[in-house]
Amino acid sequence: MINIGLIGCGYWGPNLLRNFMDCPESQVFAVADLDESRLAYVREKYPSIHTTSDYTALFNPGVDAVVIATQPRTHYRLAKEALLQGKHVLVEKPLAKSVAEAEELVALAAERGLKLMVGHTFEYNAAVRELKKQIKAGTVGKPYYLYSQRLNFGVVRQDVNALWNLAPHDVSILIYLLEAMPLSVSCRGFDFIQPGIQDIVFMVLKFPDNVVAHVQVSWLDPSKVRKMTVVGSEKMIIYNDMDENKIQVFDKGIKVENKGESLGPYDDFEKYKLIKRAGDVHYPPLEFSEPLKDECLDFVRSIIDDRAPLADGQNGLRVVRVLETAQDSMDLHGVALDVRRTSPNRKQPSLTP
Ligand SMILES: NC(=O)c1ccc[n+]([C@@H]2O[C@H](COP(=O)([O-])OP(=O)(O)OC[C@H]3O[C@@H](n4cnc5c(N)ncnc54)[C@H](O)[C@@H]3O)[C@@H](O)[C@H]2O)c1
Repeated sequence: MINIGLIGCGYWGPNLLRNFMDCPESQVFAVADLDESRLAYVREKYPSIHTTSDYTALFNPGVDAVVIATQPRTHYRLAKEALLQGKHVLVEKPLAKSVAEAEELVALAAERGLKLMVGHTFEYNAAVRELKKQIKAGTVGKPYYLYSQRLNFGVVRQDVNALWNLAPHDVSILIYLLEAMPLSVSCRGFDFIQPGIQDIVFMVLKFPDNVVAHVQVSWLDPSKVRKMTVVGSEKMIIYNDMDENKIQVFDKGIKVENKGESLGPYDDFEKYKLIKRAGDVHYPPLEFSEPLKDECLDFVRSIIDDRAPLADGQNGLRVVRVLETAQDSMDLHGVALDVRRTSPNRKQPSLTP
């Protein structure tokens, strides 16, 4: 039985709390929150759970692992403290606010033999897994491009922009699907509500093999959209998390056929025949379970079985690396930046507490 201490029980924390309480191999020992009304909520629902406003009370020997569901600006500090106290850590996305911080957490966890995991919930989503299965099986042929939209009316955040709040999911899904890091990122963002905090963000990512991705995130949109489209040489797939048929495979494509070796004087004119194909739509069946349940189970089992969870620290670091590059690009009004560059502005912190 893995004993969990949860820090932060605002909007998202209760979902983690429920899943760790429902998991047969874990129980939540204590919850810490600065807001007394959130602690009252926990006591009302689960009278056996200890509640406290002091998160350091969770660093006692009865707690095996700490789950952090606080605002992103606090992730690095709380995760570092928990690791230094010898606790396994699941931290909500994003893992940290910079590559230097994320690298430090990954190194610290490795040095201490502790599990470090990040809440990339969509990698546990059955529809995303089916999409990956289809891409790997060659259904779409050669992937040409993907585009993702994560739009909402609110919640408007004050501590992070829409890039750091919403795009961690899209970036983690893209890396998961393509099994590759993007080579470069170009990003534009616009602030309408709060100066300096971008409400809408558009990002173009270039992946190896000439695969292109576009990500649009916003909390200033009339509708809730959770959608990704994959277009390839053979077929096209739409993953719509809001639809009953979450995965739709379209037998659509455009074939380019060379008309012949030489067309003589017409060589520059319509050398190719473009053949459009539009066939059936297929809806692969999905066995859907709550993604967060599988995420929590993976964390607990990774501790019990002493193995890395799917969304481990390295995974979290990769996503932070892309987000940091995107942020730098946004600050430079959309200049495309190499993801592998080391940013001259960011200092490398030491491992000393
Ligand atoms: N995986 C997902 O799909 C998903 C969905 C929503 C949010 N999130 C993530 O969850 C995290 C929390 O988001 P939220 O929407 O629940 O935020 P929130 O503001 O609603 O809740 C955060 C809670 O943390 C508490 N808190 C902050 N600092 C604390 C401290 N030092 N000690 C104890 N409690 C403290 C606050 O009082 C608050 O109740 C964010 O990182 C967000 O990105 C993930």
